[in-house]
Amino acid sequence: MLRIEHLTCHYGVIRALNDVTITVGDEGIYAVVGANGAGKTTLINSIVGLVRPTSGSIQYQGEELTVLPPHEIIKRGIALCPEGRKIFKTVTVLENLYAGAYTLKDKKIIQDNIESVFELFPRIKERQKQVAGTLSGGEQQMLAIGRALMSNPKLLLLDEPSMGLAPFVVDLVFETIEKIHLERKIPSLVIEQNSEMALSIAKYAYVFEVGSLTLEGTGADLLQSEEVKRKYLGA
Ligand SMILES: Nc1ncnc2c1ncn2[C@@H]1O[C@H](COP(=O)(O)OP(=O)(O)O)[C@@H](O)[C@H]1O
Ligand SMILES: [Mg+2]
Repeated sequence: MLRIEHLTCHYGVIRALNDVTITVGDEGIYAVVGANGAGKTTLINSIVGLVRPTSGSIQYQGEELTVLPPHEIIKRGIALCPEGRKIFKTVTVLENLYAGAYTLKDKKIIQDNIESVFELFPRIKERQKQVAGTLSGGEQQMLAIGRALMSNPKLLLLDEPSMGLAPFVVDLVFETIEKIHLERKIPSLVIEQNSEMALSIAKYAYVFEVGSLTLEGTGADLLQSEEVKRKYLGA
């Protein structure tokens, strides 16, 4: 379980997160939704040690993460699929996948993980020898998720997986996130501006507004909430 308590983060004098407390359980899909600038990426980057909080704690399976460097946090089994995908565009699809397994030494396990990613994404298998920058936006997002899965994570963090994708591709990405939950039993934290999609698959979700947690509840309850409908769902 991931437990974040009273987390506050600054960039210089800018306070990006203010006293945020959230929990991500060992099973299911969790979501953080909110507008651009709400502090979503800051939250996810603080979990993996890329942003150092001003105060508060982040505990994973009882261990404090805020004192660990990013590579140690990754070794604990937390994988990040970053905002904007950040795939390595000039190398092949397969090389991108290998890059995701850099914490693993056992060649057999790495090969098994490749097969397992190919099973999840047949398109990625078909295109494994292609230079990654030539993939479509949706395929690049699948590759980014596949790369994150290469480390055999115990917790998957996804930062705006639907960003910049056509609506039918967005559907596909969210179906994949559900599949990872149902078939691989990997818990995930999905950060999204696309509130409707994220809430519709989330077991439990948090709403952020300018750095603060303003609402929380099951995905289903938040989808029904008048406040959420008015502010985020264009109702
Ligand atoms: N590297 C940075 N330097 C200064 N301010 C930043 C930096 N990254 C984010 N911010 C600011 O922190 C706030 C939260 O940003 P961010 O976490 O990226 O929000 P979100 O992911 O929800 O769009 C915003 O006001 C943003 O401008
Ligand atoms: Mg962001």
